[in-house]
Amino acid sequence: MNILLIGSGGRENAIAWKLAQSPLLSQLFIAPGNPGMKPYGTLVAIAVDDFENIGKFCIENAIEMVVVGPEVPLVKGIHDYFLASDKLKSISVIGPDSKGAMLEGSKDFSKQFMKKYAIPTADYQTFDSKSLDKGLAYLETAKPPYVLKADGLAAGKGVIITSDLAEAKATLYEMISDLKFGDASAKVVIEQFLKGLEVSVFALSDGKNYVLLPEAKDYKRIGIGDTGPNTGGMGAVSPVPFADALFMQKVNERIIKPTVDGLAKENILYKGFIFFGLIEVDNEPFVIEYNCRMGDPETEVVMPRIKSDLVEILSKVQNQKLNEVKIEFQPFAATTIMLVAGGYPDDYQKGDVITEIKNTKDVLCFHAGTKTDPNGNIVTNGGRVMALTGTGKNITEALEKSKSAAKTIQWKGKYFRDDIGFEFV
Ligand code: AMP
Ligand code: GLY
Repeated sequence: MNILLIGSGGRENAIAWKLAQSPLLSQLFIAPGNPGMKPYGTLVAIAVDDFENIGKFCIENAIEMVVVGPEVPLVKGIHDYFLASDKLKSISVIGPDSKGAMLEGSKDFSKQFMKKYAIPTADYQTFDSKSLDKGLAYLETAKPPYVLKADGLAAGKGVIITSDLAEAKATLYEMISDLKFGDASAKVVIEQFLKGLEVSVFALSDGKNYVLLPEAKDYKRIGIGDTGPNTGGMGAVSPVPFADALFMQKVNERIIKPTVDGLAKENILYKGFIFFGLIEVDNEPFVIEYNCRMGDPETEVVMPRIKSDLVEILSKVQNQKLNEVKIEFQPFAATTIMLVAGGYPDDYQKGDVITEIKNTKDVLCFHAGTKTDPNGNIVTNGGRVMALTGTGKNITEALEKSKSAAKTIQWKGKYFRDDIGFEFV
């Protein structure tokens, strides 16, 4: 089977690594990819939302499956584009159509969906320019901390949590009236603050059946001990010790099954990954957010923990045969540490030469934001630069490998958190 993978981050590097191990794979192409993916497939210089050229490429190269990594092409309707074309509609697209992608693309939609299907989540209210005054009044009666969420996609920056009422009111005003996050914050969801441990759970759905992938925990804050501003993710571990069999059973019965069944009832044929961002409050799971894709950096620990052939599993999605799949996990733990550019998540430099990659031992070195410069050097090309995944019989052993590699690789301004997994060691 010829497969086209869409994306260029650490998540896609991990997916490419896993797909490339399958005997069912003929050729793997990655658009646009990054230098870390070269061992696994052919890089194609097409942007993730250039549907026309993606479509042409698929026809010219007899692509049978397109695996979509990031949310932007999904929310913009890449799956719809394929379904609307006679030449493309037989190609299996792994990723929901734009209606399904609204689980991530609109917080208001996802909250309404959860309420309708009684899926546990924080109480909420949605406000827009017409109801801004009501929103400001609502904040006065709400209990702090106040959680304000831009309705639309905001590159992971659209959630603001503050205990200061004046700041919450000013932020609501800026989001709705000044469009602080562009059109994404024309509507704002204000929700109840939940306190607990977070875990990311992943399902692959064919619109009728689903399989669960290994769970993971990511570390979003930039600073040691989960302090400082949010980032795209500084590291991840899998498995997650508190997500035991009983907890996962509750997750499955109360959240995952009702979500997949609810989507079907809404006539949304959801064929792709669903990311459940969960929080455990007094042993009970609540949904913090849905995403219509895999997590990053969670995928960098999830892929190594899948023992089964990923191409075989994905090939069951198109004909809704995921019920035939028995997915097997590796018994070991996996951890990843993200190396980031100095200054990230604020302004940072690009183009610094990265050295010593070859001197790392016993880790998977997934590139996130890198490129090759005209002299053939691998250079930094993003805030999150590289994810270093170690495996071991437990989290401590896996982390030793991730940390050793994180210290080995060098460039000017490199930063990483050396306390990933701190609660579990
Ligand atoms: P999101 O972009 O929805 O994942 O939110 C980003 C982060 O904000 C989450 O990972 C949580 O740490 C936090 N968060 C979001 N919603 C809530 C909530 N209702 N209560 C507490 N923390 C939240
Ligand atoms: N790691 C969180 C996300 O991918 O959204």
